[in-house]
Amino acid sequence: MASADQLGNDGGTRTVTGAAGIAERSSATAKLAGKGLDIGTANILAAVRDQKGGIVVRCERNAFLDIQGDVHSRSMLTKLNVPYVVHENSLIVLGGSAFELANVFGRPTRRPMMDGLISSREKEALPMMQMIIKKVLGEPTSANEPCFFSVPAESVDRDNNIVYHQGLFQGMLQKLGYHATPMNEGHAVTFAELAAEDFTGIGISFGGGMVNVCVSYKTIPALTFSVARGGDWIDGNAATVLGLPSSKVTYIKESGMDIRSPKGREQEAIAIYFRNLISYTLQNIRNRLMMGKDLPNFADPVEIVCSGGTSMIQGFIEVFREEIQKVKLPIPVKGIRLGKEPLNSVSQGCLVAAVSSMD
Ligand SMILES: Nc1ncnc2c1ncn2[C@@H]1O[C@H](COP(=O)(O)OP(=O)(O)OP(=O)(O)O)[C@@H](O)[C@H]1O
Ligand SMILES: [Mg+2]
Repeated sequence: MASADQLGNDGGTRTVTGAAGIAERSSATAKLAGKGLDIGTANILAAVRDQKGGIVVRCERNAFLDIQGDVHSRSMLTKLNVPYVVHENSLIVLGGSAFELANVFGRPTRRPMMDGLISSREKEALPMMQMIIKKVLGEPTSANEPCFFSVPAESVDRDNNIVYHQGLFQGMLQKLGYHATPMNEGHAVTFAELAAEDFTGIGISFGGGMVNVCVSYKTIPALTFSVARGGDWIDGNAATVLGLPSSKVTYIKESGMDIRSPKGREQEAIAIYFRNLISYTLQNIRNRLMMGKDLPNFADPVEIVCSGGTSMIQGFIEVFREEIQKVKLPIPVKGIRLGKEPLNSVSQGCLVAAVSSMD
């Protein structure tokens, strides 16, 4: 099986975010077949191959803002140079532009997904996500081009309907002209990051809505599960104890703090919830490994790779190493590391799977 490195990820993947993704599509249309799509609560990313076989990742926020469709609003958006689409008499601003505009208006964005799955609270979720997905994925290079897309595993702490979520996106991608195959999110991390370990080890995606875990043995997922907590859970809880809006906490969290040395009351609250999320995830890994009946016998110590936006905070791996000492996993651990490009691991793993499926 090809690795992400062989597909051109030498740690220097070109990542294109927001509106720039549109320019990217027209200037470097991917010619090589096979695409990977990471459908996340916070971000939607597509990993594609350019003409030279390098990987390009296009990223867009999974959010939108709807504005009344009158002449005044149209001219305001045009003046501000904000791209929009018209949908049922409303003007819809998608992705990163919705975030920027929400700040101008002091209004929250609408989010089509919650806790890793399509939101039951958002009636408009599916058409909005279809537009974002089309934007990052582009047209298929040929009919039925293979596209592997990420789906979360069932949660240990919530009764969630993965089957419905998976079926919705499989149907949507097929309508867009792809041959769509679902791939477990944690499994995708192992495909992107554990080639040197013969695809054996533990891949973890710390996302916005969830944490997804996969224990893999030579490419085979031996154990997968998720916990329904992630970056949003950290923001929401810290916001409650601090009496601040969640968006303010997100801002502080993403502005470059270190969870080993938080400064001030706000950073301290954030650091407490980070440590709790890491510890909770490790306890669940231990419990599931102890329960696992058909787990392979890991004779050699295994590598653990952490990815996802939530793993990008400074000090994450160091706190993870401290917390793992406290839980005593039933399998020996060799090393713990951060993914090469933590935000891109899932989409790249899906791309590796899509390309391998064509061999
Ligand atoms: N530098 C950073 N430090 C801390 N957190 C960050 C940073 N950058 C992004 N995040 C957080 O990462 C989360 C988004 O990560 P990611 O894109 O991996 O999630 P997702 O795949 O969309 O969600 P999920 O997989 O749970 O559905 C958000 O909670 C965001 O606040
Ligand atoms: Mg994710």
